[in-house]
Amino acid sequence: MVVLALTLLVGAVAVFSLGSLLWVICRQFWTEHIPEGITHPLKLRILSCLLHLSMTWGMIFEKLGLCYAPQFASFIHDLKPLKKDPDVVVKDLRFGTIPVKLYKPKKPSSILRTGIIFFHGGGSILGSLRTHDSICLRLSKDCDSVVVSVGYRKSPMYKYPVMKDDCVVATTHFLESLDVYGVDPDRVVVCGDSVGGTAATVTSQMLVHRTDLPRIQAQILIYPLLQLIDFASPSYQQNSNIPLLSWDLAFYCFCCHLDVNSSWESVIKNGMHLPPEVWEKYRKWLGAENIPERFKKRGYQSVPRGPVNNDAYQETKNALNYTCSPLIAEDSIVSRLPETCIVSCEYDLLRDNSLLYKKRLEDLGVPVTWHHMEDGFHGVLNTFDYGLLSFPCAFRIMDLIIQFIRKF
Ligand SMILES: *[C@@H]1O[C@H](CO)[C@@H](O)[C@H](O)[C@H]1NC(C)=O
Ligand SMILES: *[C@@H]1O[C@H](CO)[C@@H](O)[C@H](O)[C@H]1NC(C)=O
Repeated sequence: MVVLALTLLVGAVAVFSLGSLLWVICRQFWTEHIPEGITHPLKLRILSCLLHLSMTWGMIFEKLGLCYAPQFASFIHDLKPLKKDPDVVVKDLRFGTIPVKLYKPKKPSSILRTGIIFFHGGGSILGSLRTHDSICLRLSKDCDSVVVSVGYRKSPMYKYPVMKDDCVVATTHFLESLDVYGVDPDRVVVCGDSVGGTAATVTSQMLVHRTDLPRIQAQILIYPLLQLIDFASPSYQQNSNIPLLSWDLAFYCFCCHLDVNSSWESVIKNGMHLPPEVWEKYRKWLGAENIPERFKKRGYQSVPRGPVNNDAYQETKNALNYTCSPLIAEDSIVSRLPETCIVSCEYDLLRDNSLLYKKRLEDLGVPVTWHHMEDGFHGVLNTFDYGLLSFPCAFRIMDLIIQFIRKF
């Protein structure tokens, strides 16, 4: 009897797993597009399937009232075992209530070290101290630096501005105690990928006026998200169905983080959530005329904005705060930002965020080092320790940021 029940249970789980796998694969082939410029398309399909499978199972658990979908997906992603490096000591600490991982080279150093404050990506709903552990290990070892990786609270449990606040609090705490960690106050940098890049630059912006703290010397932004206002620029049109960040996933993250009703999707996508005077105000920084022509070749059409929807405007107003969209911070803030390294990817929904921020920073006299990955897609850096599933582009990005940080 027990054997029969167990067999039935195992059978049901197997059918369920196989069914969801098939569903994810079919949907992916139907909707996703992998351009010729991306090397190893099969690898990307596999990664995308794994991501969507974890989210699909998460959605089922969410429907059952057990947890939020991204919580389940994160749980699965965190099962990947952590790598060890005999040359780096890793400690789990808390800065106040915020969990952090601290990485420090084992070998004693006669001089103070570079400090790197690292913010992981994941659309504010995924990613963790564990998913970005290998990146931090490598940064600590190859830059002979002390890395502190910040475990901020995520959406949908916590909405804007909780994540931003956690990042600023953790950074302030670290900057106030650099001597404890053997870090040189003249050599602290912030670094992040995707929404981690948002966190890195928002933190820099919020601290530019703090003369009581050591100054951040550089910011490294890897395919960052820098504004949540306009979704009609070339990269949003060209790359909306390219993994690992499709428009659907990005919009889902947007709704989770800003607590916006997903029924506004087409209104927001078409810019109808912005009154004309608001768009006119930011157009000088966000308009497609700021993007070099060569990025508009691959099927881009400028779309006229429809009539404004005031309810959607009210609900998305937080996006107009510079702590949410650092690309629109005042000149008096942006002009005081430290030297910046930006990595953008051609096949990334968010590509134009990088191009626009680069222009703003340069126009205001901030030195920018820019690397554009012609074969890159959003999230590629994470694959650098995925073994057979890694992409050459991930190693190139890693080497470029290490090279940049070593200058300090
Ligand atoms: C979202 O909007 C739809 C349509 O306007 C409405 O039916 C639904 O109740 C809203 N959901 C929430 C959670 O407010
Ligand atoms: C921007 O957001 C911060 C909280 O993150 C808030 O204190 C501030 O008042 C907001 N600014 C505006 C203009 O709404």
